[in-house]
Amino acid sequence: MRRFEGKVVAVTGSGRAGGLGAAILKRFATEGAACVVSDLGVPKERMGEGDIGTTAEMEAVADGLRAMGAQAIAVPCDVRSDADCRALVETAVSAFGRLDVMVANAGIGYLMKPFLETEEADWDAVLDVNLKGAFLSAKHAAAHMVARGGGGRILMIASQAAKSGFPHMAPYCASKHGMVGLVRSMAIELGRHGITVNAVCPNHVTTGLGAKQNDYFSKLLGFDSVEAYLANMKARNPLGRPGLPEDTAGLCAFLASEDAAYVTGEAWNVSGGEEMH
Ligand SMILES: NC(=O)c1ccc[n+]([C@@H]2O[C@H](COP(=O)([O-])OP(=O)(O)OC[C@H]3O[C@@H](n4cnc5c(N)ncnc54)[C@H](O)[C@@H]3O)[C@@H](O)[C@H]2O)c1
Repeated sequence: MRRFEGKVVAVTGSGRAGGLGAAILKRFATEGAACVVSDLGVPKERMGEGDIGTTAEMEAVADGLRAMGAQAIAVPCDVRSDADCRALVETAVSAFGRLDVMVANAGIGYLMKPFLETEEADWDAVLDVNLKGAFLSAKHAAAHMVARGGGGRILMIASQAAKSGFPHMAPYCASKHGMVGLVRSMAIELGRHGITVNAVCPNHVTTGLGAKQNDYFSKLLGFDSVEAYLANMKARNPLGRPGLPEDTAGLCAFLASEDAAYVTGEAWNVSGGEEMH
């Protein structure tokens, strides 16, 4: 299937090998889309190079997409910045003439602490990227789609943590639950422009971000090793396997396709049945 021939897709936080964002772009590239890879490029406060998609990694993701025959550019964007998000959309439009799909995927999930030790700065760090960043990137994409006419698709990568609470992740869970409210409100206002807005809620996936959670939670829950922790997770999953980036990518492609033209304001689980509401 080449459902996205002539379409342009931008994914924030997609410049990291093995991440959900890179897998989402790969899927869209396979189906004919021109791709906008975007990430921080350089670490900011409280981040190491190992926490983010660097400029070199972003370029490597774009090279991989080009090797598949897709058009691709890499654009640095800190989603906490209104100016960066505006520039991301403008750069996509000037490179490819339009933007059809924005996936707000950038997120941080490596600040894990007991609730009573969580400080204001932790809260701000997580909410600024996960929720404010989704708002800003979606807003500038929507403004372009409304001005251009012809509709569009906005997707937000929320999480299982948008549906259930998890220990030591209060700001993360709050940010992801907040995303669902943002999606519902945007869907109501943007529907008359033919723009659908949906959240995608994956269960745990071992990405860069996921690997940090594996280390932390395997110790917190008293497992002997990360492998034992993951085996337990697998055993509890109705479909009997962990989540993969490609699972999320497949759902994103469906939601961006014409088959999902009448689907908006929803928060879709992609969790092998682990999350059912
Ligand atoms: N891995 C999981 O288990 C899981 C499950 C559910 C949801 N998610 C969500 O999926 C999304 C992608 O995460 P991932 O697991 O692929 O991890 P990842 O670390 O590979 O991707 C997150 C990306 O966000 C980028 N980022 C961080 N701060 C940014 C900022 N200020 N501006 C722009 N980009 C920024 C990072 O550089 C990184 O490339 C996140 O929103 C995460 O919360 C992940």
